[in-house]
Amino acid sequence: MTENKRSKRYLITSALPYANGPLHVGHLAGAYIPADIYARYLRLTGEDVLYICGSDEHGAAITMRAKQEDTTPQAIVDKYHETNKADFDKIGMSFDIYHRTSSDLHRETSSAFFKALYDKGVFTEQVSEQYYDAEYDQFLADRYIKGTCPKCGNEEAYGDQCERCGSALSPTDLINPVSTLSGNKPELKTTKHWFLPMDRYQEQVKNWIEAAQGTEKWKKHVLGQCRSWFQDGLQPRSMTRDLNWGVPVPLEGAEGKVLYVWLDAPIGYISATKALTDDWASYWQSEDTKLVHFIGKDNIVFHCIIFPMLLQLRGEGYVLPTNVPANQFMNLEGDKMSTSRNHVVGVSSFLEDFPGQEDVLRYVLSMNMPENKDSDFSWSDLQARNNNELVAILGNFVNRVLVLTNKYFGGEIPEIPAAVETALEAQTAAIYDSLKAFPKTLDTLVHKYEFRNALSELMNVARMGNKFLTDTEPWKLFKTDADTTAGILRTCLDIIAVIAVYAEPFLPFTAPKLRGYLNLNEAEVKAIIEGAFRTAAGRKIEKGAHLFGRIDDAAIQLQQDKLAAAKAANEAKAEGPSYEPVKDTIQYDDFMKMDIRTGTITTAEKMKKAKKLLQLTVDLGFEQRTVVSGIAEHYTPEEVIGQKVLLLANLAPRKLRGVESQGMILMAESGGKLHFVSPGDAENGSGVS
Ligand code: 2FM
Ligand code: ZN
Repeated sequence: MTENKRSKRYLITSALPYANGPLHVGHLAGAYIPADIYARYLRLTGEDVLYICGSDEHGAAITMRAKQEDTTPQAIVDKYHETNKADFDKIGMSFDIYHRTSSDLHRETSSAFFKALYDKGVFTEQVSEQYYDAEYDQFLADRYIKGTCPKCGNEEAYGDQCERCGSALSPTDLINPVSTLSGNKPELKTTKHWFLPMDRYQEQVKNWIEAAQGTEKWKKHVLGQCRSWFQDGLQPRSMTRDLNWGVPVPLEGAEGKVLYVWLDAPIGYISATKALTDDWASYWQSEDTKLVHFIGKDNIVFHCIIFPMLLQLRGEGYVLPTNVPANQFMNLEGDKMSTSRNHVVGVSSFLEDFPGQEDVLRYVLSMNMPENKDSDFSWSDLQARNNNELVAILGNFVNRVLVLTNKYFGGEIPEIPAAVETALEAQTAAIYDSLKAFPKTLDTLVHKYEFRNALSELMNVARMGNKFLTDTEPWKLFKTDADTTAGILRTCLDIIAVIAVYAEPFLPFTAPKLRGYLNLNEAEVKAIIEGAFRTAAGRKIEKGAHLFGRIDDAAIQLQQDKLAAAKAANEAKAEGPSYEPVKDTIQYDDFMKMDIRTGTITTAEKMKKAKKLLQLTVDLGFEQRTVVSGIAEHYTPEEVIGQKVLLLANLAPRKLRGVESQGMILMAESGGKLHFVSPGDAENGSGVS
C-alpha cells in the first residue's frame, strides 16, 4: 500500500471541454487519457472512484462560435455536447458522468454557490468604466476584445489573456484595443460588477499550496506557474459579466449579467457529481476524499488558485485538490495544433480512417504524453510505434504463445512438469521475480502520475516474454523435449495473464481480448491483482488472433497529405487572391471601336505541334469564323463544341501556325484556369455593348 492509497475515495476530474468544436488528439493527450488511465487503474485496484467530466457550455467561447455559425448559443452547445460525448465514448473514456453546464441543476448549483459567497461578503462591488461596442450594444470582456499585449507586444492578445506570453490581462491593459465583434475601436461606459479580491485572499491559497507539497509534490511546471502568479501579486478579478448567455447573477440590480464562465465551469464538477449521486456531499465535503484535477497547462491558474480560493472561502468542509497534474501541450508534426487552421487530428476523423484502432491512438498518445514538457504527435511516429511496438512486441508475443499452445497442447494451459521446473529455474526465476515486482512498480508510477513510464513498464513485460520465447525457441524444442516446451509456454501464458490484467487502464479495448484469449474470470483477475500470478493448468484457452495490424506507408502518406493540403489552403487564404492592377483608363470611343459578337463553337481540333492551341469554327449567325485559341491546356476539343462564346469580331486577322485566326474569344482567368464568358441566351451574331 502506498501512502496515497489511504484515501477513502477518489474524485477525479478532467477539464470540461467547451462545447464549441470537435475534439482532437491534443485534447485527449492533455486532460483526458491521463485521467482515464488513473481512474481505470484505481478502479482495477479496488478503490472507490468517481470520474467526472462534461461540457463547458458558457462563456465567450460559445457565443462567438454561435455568431460564426450564424446560430444560437443553445444550438451550438446542443450540437457539440452530443458530438464530443460520442467521441469520448468511442475512444473509451470511462467517465462516470458526462454532464452539461447548461443544465438546470448546474445553473442552480453555481448560482447558489455564488450567492453563498456573496452572503458571506466575499465579493466587492465595483462600478467602473469598461470597454463597450455601441454597434453591438455589448460590453467587451475576455475574447470580445483584442489588442497589443503590454508585456510581449503580441498584437493578437485577448482581453483576458495573451496566448503568446501567457500573461493574464484585463481589457484595459491592452494597447490599441478593438472589438472582435465589429472591429471598431471601443468606447468606455460604466457598469457594475462583483469582484473576487484575490489580493486579499492570496496568502491563504499560497499557504495551502505550499503545505500541500508535504502530502504530494506537484509537477514543477505547475508549482512554478502558481508561484509566479503569487510573485506578481494576485489582482481582483470580476466574477460577473455583461452577457446574455450564462448563469444569471442571482442578485437584485444584476439584470442582464451572468456569472464569469471561470466561476461557473469548475462548479460544474460539483453539479455533475450531484447529477450522478445523491451521495455527492460525501465526496465533495469530506476530508477522506482525494480530489485530482487533470487539465492542460492553460487552465492552471483556474484550478490551482481561483477555484481552490472559492472553495476555501465557501468553507463547509469542501475538499481542495490534492494534486493538479496538468499536462503541457502536444504539437502536431512540429507545429501547434489549431482547429481553425485545420492543423489537427480529430478524434472522430482518426477513428473513421483507422476503424477499430482506438488502442493504437491511446497507446501513441500515452507514450508521447506531454507530462512535463510539450511533446509532438507525428504520423511517422504513430506508424513506428504501432508496427515496432504493438505489433512486433505485444501482438507478436501473444499470438506466438497462443498458436504454439494450441498446436502442441491442444489449447490447454500446460502444467510445468516438476523436473522441468528445476531445469528452467535459472531462466524462469528472473521472469517470475519480474512479474512479482511489476505491480508495485506500476502502482508507484501511476500514483506519481508518470503514465508514460507506467505504460513502458507494461511493454517491458511483453518485451521480456517476447525475448524469452525467441531465446528458448520452443518450436524447435517440442519434437525432442515436450516437457521443457510446456514449461516455456506456461511461463509465457503467465506473462500474458499479467499483461491482460494490467493493460486495462492503458489499452481498454485490448485488455478484454487478452483476458478472453486466456478465459480469465473475475476471480482470477482479482487473484493476480492480489499477487498470484499463475494461470490454472488444464484450462482451455482460445486460438487467439493478431491483436494489432501493421499500418502501411500509404495510410500514413494519406494523413500527411491531408495536413499538407490544409497548410497550403491556409497559406493561400493568408495571401488572399491576387488581382492584376487595373489598366490605364480608356475613352468611351475606344471601347465603342470593339465589335464583340455572340457565337457558338461548332468545330474544334487540336493544332499540330502547338500544345496550347485549338483551331475552332465559330458560328456568328451571319458567317462562320476560323479562330485559333490558346485554350488547349484547359479544354479538350469535345468539351468546347457547342459552347456559346463572346468573340471580338473586328480584331485584325493574324496567322498562327499557318492558320489565319479571325477574331478572339473572350475568356476570364481565375486561379490559373480559363473560363468562357457567357453571352447568356443571346442569339448568335448579337452585338455586345
Ligand atoms: O479550457 C477549456 O477548455 C475550459 N472549458 C476548461 C474548463 S475546466 C473546468 F473548470 F470546467
Ligand atoms: Zn504577451
